[in-house]
Amino acid sequence: MRIVAEHLTHIYNEGSPFAVKALDDLSLTIEEGEFFGVIGHTGSGKSTFVQYLNGLMRLPSSKKRRKKKGDRTVLQVGEFDLTRKKTDFRALRRKVGMVFQYPESQLFAETVFEDVAFGYKNFAEKKPTAEELERVVRAAIEETGLDYESVRNASPFDLSGGQKRRAAIAGVIVTRPEILVLDEPAAGLDPLGKREVMELLHKLHGDWCKTVVVVSHDMDEIAENCTRVAVFSDGKVLYSEPPRELFKRAETLQALGLDIPLTAKLCAALEKRGVPIDCDFTIEDFVKKTLARKGGESC
Ligand SMILES: Nc1ncnc2c1ncn2[C@@H]1O[C@H](COP(=O)(O)OP(=O)(O)OP(=O)(O)O)[C@@H](O)[C@H]1O
Ligand SMILES: [Mg+2]
Repeated sequence: MRIVAEHLTHIYNEGSPFAVKALDDLSLTIEEGEFFGVIGHTGSGKSTFVQYLNGLMRLPSSKKRRKKKGDRTVLQVGEFDLTRKKTDFRALRRKVGMVFQYPESQLFAETVFEDVAFGYKNFAEKKPTAEELERVVRAAIEETGLDYESVRNASPFDLSGGQKRRAAIAGVIVTRPEILVLDEPAAGLDPLGKREVMELLHKLHGDWCKTVVVVSHDMDEIAENCTRVAVFSDGKVLYSEPPRELFKRAETLQALGLDIPLTAKLCAALEKRGVPIDCDFTIEDFVKKTLARKGGESC
């Protein structure tokens, strides 16, 4: 399923003195199959945008929307037209899974099994049988790397931080969404926990999840993992391009208050010393190109 947004505007508290324009005529396309990154300064509209993708944010009725020719709002996720009130948002949510920032804060059931099962029952077309529920919950828990037998009857509140995060992700992937959207999935975890979450997302992407959209402040994470990245600023998309193009814009990104990956900092420092390294900003490629350079081969 392809994601297409055109002329998307969102104003919180519209018409009141507290109105905030969070999305400002934003346009962005995400192709099926991408591992897509969303970056931008605090308050640039990232969370607001991703909440549109599974219908948590809805557009006002078409009468209220601008209708001037050429700037009609388009918001299409696969076959779902999210500008229409009649769209089957429940069916959409089965196909577009959303993992919020600190998702573990939404764990609520007495056992991990019940928590993950809730994610399935909530969106199932019809009431699942006990066997079906057991099968899908077990699969989702095991996919996140948790041991089913030892956590199924545990209280989610007794798990470690990293395990809680996994349990919360299991409650979303239990419907096997085609698109998985995650708002800062690795935030607040230690380096090992971060790495494990990113590895999990790659595994899901390789196995069955067609498209992953991830909001992140961590540029190393973006450089290592994403096929393409959108840079949000004041509710607009400034760039959407592969990391190897984007992180060449070191000065522009830094002027926007954004960090750049460590590899981009190293490339800039080497370039200043007359040693340009043309890499894709992954550590692996940086090391490869630097070693090749050292050996006198071209970079
Ligand atoms: N519920 C809300 N009511 C009013 N204003 C809001 C609300 N949620 C967000 N905003 C405002 O909308 C703008 C965009 O917010 P949003 O949360 O989408 O940004 P963000 O890019 O996700 O930021 P962060 O990096 O801090 O998570 C900000 O100015 C924010 O203060
Ligand atoms: Mg946010």
